[in-house]
Amino acid sequence: MKNVIRFVIVLALLALLFPLYNQFRSAPVNSLTLAKPADPLRAKAFAILGAKCADCHTLEGALPFYAALPVIGKLIKGDIQDGLKAINYQTTLAAAPDQPAGEVLLVKTEKEVSSGDMPPLPYLALHWEARLSAGEKATLLDWIHAERAKHYATAGIAPQFQNEPIQPLPEKLELDARKVALGSKLFHDKRLSKDNTLSCASCHDLAKGGTDQAQYSTGVGQKLGGINSPTVFNSAFQSVMFWDGRAPTLEAQADGPVNNPGEMASNWQETIPKLQPDAELTAAFNAVYPQGYSKETITEAIAMFERSLLTPARFDRFLRGQADAITADERHGYELFKQYGCACCHVGKLLGGQSYEPLGRTADYFADRGKPTPADDGRFSVTKNEGDRHKFKVPTLRNVAITFPYLHDGMTSDLKQVVQLMGKYQLGESISAADNASIVAFLHTLTGVYDGKPLGK
Ligand code: HEC
Ligand code: HEC
Ligand code: HEC
Repeated sequence: MKNVIRFVIVLALLALLFPLYNQFRSAPVNSLTLAKPADPLRAKAFAILGAKCADCHTLEGALPFYAALPVIGKLIKGDIQDGLKAINYQTTLAAAPDQPAGEVLLVKTEKEVSSGDMPPLPYLALHWEARLSAGEKATLLDWIHAERAKHYATAGIAPQFQNEPIQPLPEKLELDARKVALGSKLFHDKRLSKDNTLSCASCHDLAKGGTDQAQYSTGVGQKLGGINSPTVFNSAFQSVMFWDGRAPTLEAQADGPVNNPGEMASNWQETIPKLQPDAELTAAFNAVYPQGYSKETITEAIAMFERSLLTPARFDRFLRGQADAITADERHGYELFKQYGCACCHVGKLLGGQSYEPLGRTADYFADRGKPTPADDGRFSVTKNEGDRHKFKVPTLRNVAITFPYLHDGMTSDLKQVVQLMGKYQLGESISAADNASIVAFLHTLTGVYDGKPLGK
């Protein structure tokens, strides 16, 4: 009995000792506290993040002496590893103190700060000083809102929606109309493929939401591909191209399919001589590009056309202040979309397209689905970094109601099922049937208008 009491007393003392030790540690010094951005609100936010979050979200946290103990040490290092994987403030904010913070970083930080889930409870038990005070929370949220309003609020947004993680598409971009017109012709030109059977539009049909509505695309010679074709609509706002981000721009992307043996199976030496004899096209092309046909000029024209493919939707009218542009249920679906945390990845004008995220953040999607394919590697196939395996560029949800089948593996055309899968594999949540229906209703408000015509009709 005496031993038990002694043990309890020792435990109680230890439970006090660690936090007391932490109380008197000197103020943390790390890249966030040293960064000193010019903007005073930003500087305040960095100081808070540096003091309270850097232990797990930078590589610079000073480990306490008890990190050397067996069990607790392992827990601490696990937390740091998971925290860094989730968000790294050192390589993002601290590395660019005066650059705009990314929309993904802002929405994720906003969610954690307002929910009070960060720092995690076990850490708070040992670091009494690390809890965010009400004032600090308010400062962080003010900073996030200021950053959004300054860098991401689209022109024409209603004032009450300036701080929404989702922003409206512009109605149009200023582009050279002659290049757009040429690009449109080339996008629809089957001479870009080896046997003149496929154009870009064969797999990115504008009447089918900019996709082929097939699980996998079929290339020249009926060759079946191994990955779902994403939409070309609104691709002006994609940060990188392809599911694995292997092309940095639309121009670089357009070179890919022409040369891909599984798609158009051709090359520019082969296609340019096929275009040359077309007197009308060639004259129009040379008038805009005096240097004539080349990989550079053709891909630029196609990219300009793709930048013109904007599809403003009902939801954008709502964000611009037309309250009745969406129904009460659709609006409820949007609120749920934010509450569940969908907007942490599906953010900005595209509701996606800005970050690589693992498919299977909270459960093992690939173990459940089976039949691994090379396409499942995702970003890993570019970086060869094990941490990037199964990470994919987050797809845009614009026009998602008509861009089925879904996911890189095109595994289902049922939007409800995808929403349920997202709950399970990305959020660790089981989404009720009623919530699911409202979210799907919201997703339908993203089906837009192109060239004066509603898509999918
Ligand atoms: C003890 C370590 C620790 C501290 C301190 C900590 N975090 Fe975290 N943080 C984590 C872990 C672990 C995760 C991953 C949790 C998960 O994936 O569910 C995480 C995840 C996050 C995420 C990403 C959430 C997402 O949806 O991916 C954000 C944002 C975040 N933390 C912000 C903060 C902020 C802000 C602070 C300071 C106020 C903070 N954290 C302090 C451990 C920590
Ligand atoms: C045989 C079908 C096929 C043809 C033809 C084709 N594509 Fe694609 N396209 C795809 C597939 C499949 C992907 C996804 C591949 C991946 O991510 O690995 C894709 C990806 C893209 C993307 C990236 C979108 C994003 O959000 O990442 C763009 C842009 C694009 N294609 C434009 C074009 C253009 C321009 C052409 C013509 C020069 C073209 N495609 C021809 C099937 C095709
Ligand atoms: C952690 C980031 C993350 C969260 C949170 C998340 N998603 Fe996704 N979402 C992704 C990624 C990544 C994909 C593509 C995965 C793939 O195909 O391999 C995706 C795909 C989708 C698709 C299919 C789009 C298409 O064209 O194939 C839909 C629809 C979707 N998500 C809706 C949602 C909804 C609704 C929620 C909230 C309930 C949600 N997502 C939460 C990252 C996320």
